[in-house]
Amino acid sequence: MNVRDEYTRSLWMDVSVVEAPSLSGSERADEVVVGSGIAGLSVAYELVSRGRSVIVLDRGSIGSGMTARTTAHLATALDDYYKELVSVRGEECARLYYQSVMAAISRADVIQDLENIECDFCRVDGFWVQAPETPSSLLDDELEFCQRLGIPVENHETATPFHSDGMVRSLRFPGQARFHPTTGLASALQRAGAKLYADSCVESIEQKLDEVVVKVSSGHEVRAIDVVVATNSPVNLEVAVHTKQAPYRTYVIAANLPGGVLADALYWDTLDPYHYVRLQPLSTDEVLVIVGGEDHKSGEADDGEQRFAALEHWARERLPDLGAITHRWSGQVLEPIDFVGFIGRSPDEEHVFIVSGDSGQGITNGLVAGSPIADLITTGSSAWEEIYSPARKVHKNIGEYISENITPLKNFAEYFSADEIASVERLQPGEGCLVRSELQKVAACRDQKGQLHLHSASCTHLGCVVHWNSLEQCWDCPCHGSQFAPDGTALNGPAVSPLAELEKPAHHQAAE
Ligand SMILES: Cc1cc2nc3c(=O)[nH]c(=O)nc-3n(C[C@H](O)[C@H](O)[C@H](O)COP(=O)(O)OP(=O)(O)OC[C@H]3O[C@@H](n4cnc5c(N)ncnc54)[C@H](O)[C@@H]3O)c2cc1C
Ligand code: FES
Repeated sequence: MNVRDEYTRSLWMDVSVVEAPSLSGSERADEVVVGSGIAGLSVAYELVSRGRSVIVLDRGSIGSGMTARTTAHLATALDDYYKELVSVRGEECARLYYQSVMAAISRADVIQDLENIECDFCRVDGFWVQAPETPSSLLDDELEFCQRLGIPVENHETATPFHSDGMVRSLRFPGQARFHPTTGLASALQRAGAKLYADSCVESIEQKLDEVVVKVSSGHEVRAIDVVVATNSPVNLEVAVHTKQAPYRTYVIAANLPGGVLADALYWDTLDPYHYVRLQPLSTDEVLVIVGGEDHKSGEADDGEQRFAALEHWARERLPDLGAITHRWSGQVLEPIDFVGFIGRSPDEEHVFIVSGDSGQGITNGLVAGSPIADLITTGSSAWEEIYSPARKVHKNIGEYISENITPLKNFAEYFSADEIASVERLQPGEGCLVRSELQKVAACRDQKGQLHLHSASCTHLGCVVHWNSLEQCWDCPCHGSQFAPDGTALNGPAVSPLAELEKPAHHQAAE
């Protein structure tokens, strides 16, 4: 198990099922897709379906990124609200956005059927449940905007278990879906002749005269006509898209529940951050109920245990039959500043395409990505090109834009209040801290096996100060979402290079 797989340890998905070698020679294909999450695999699938030869490269196991951490609600409802989308991007964009997500969910339905993928895909209703802390006008407004846009939705006045304090109102969105993301799509791709390579970290993407050369850390390369960077956070871009989205961590628990206690549907409430709930069938008389929420900006809290406890408390209050907690995990989503993901041509590139800006609806976003990118590559245009364009300018809600991007400044201030280097002696296994050593900013942690690691605290993307995440045992960068293992390995983009290793003071070396 490599360090990247260890990071995926606590999940409810087995990401080791798809056998894929690492790239061991130089190869050529029509397209190379970097990243084997839902986005990369969806794009690869649509390209292969159009007769293209495709190679998929992933720096970890196949499907072991954020897709292995999802809860997989497939929703046409927009968690940032259509009302907000209309105010920022206009009605036509909102209408096209809805059409694209509806088409993506239908496509997922078709593919799982066509490829016999056993993933428990099921169409269900989605209920947006009014929490007592929020006004009815939230639902009134969204109802009105959805109706104006032609989005199926209705006012629902029957309480669900997630209502409290006498509230009964929800908006019901029909035709949503849920599934258990498995490795079925990867296997379907392999059957169709696509080549999948794991443990092949892409370090550079270079546009030559008539081809793109993608080089992995072992030195091998793939030459292709086009490259699709589906690394969740694009590793080919320094700035362009990263300043238009902000990373958030979200938490999930799963627990047993007797069958029939809760109707099979998607539920989420009107709080901010909101709770989200769905069922996963286990047997005829038992289901798993999956409850998520307690989000915060990445790197700005290190209290995962409290957040799990809060989720459990919230769930037990509403579902008294809840059994033992079987799984707990967290993950990161990237919130685009104008509520729509980034899917299409990488800014100023002809043959490089990206998928990012997943937000809490990234499974849907990843599924959406397949068609427009395959269309752009094979026909030169897509009906959804403009709304998802990675090069678009962000016009309105500039206040939020600035506040998201102020993080780097706060971040550097924090470094100056860090402890002195001597304090690393006191670190227990699993603990990490930021310390000062003369002019150096040091990220110090002791891994679970007791080994002390000292690295530069400067993220190798653009230099923000990383923060220790004791729950996931990694360093999180609050600026654009990079994550690093205790040994400094980059786990999540946009960073690709490891944190710089620092020399341990002589007495530390002697002690180890
Ligand atoms: C807890 C949680 C709950 C969620 N719930 C929902 C939900 O209910 N509904 C929904 O729609 N969305 C949900 N999301 C969001 C959704 O799961 C993600 O947005 C989506 O899975 C992201 O897919 P992706 O393919 O973009 O990225 P990933 O799955 O992260 O895939 C990117 C891949 O790129 C690889 N990679 C990175 N850098 C390199 C490199 N340099 N070289 C080679 N490979 C590289 C990574 O190893 C990874 O496998 C949730 C997310 C979380 C964390
Ligand atoms: S992710 Fe951009 S500076 Fe760290």
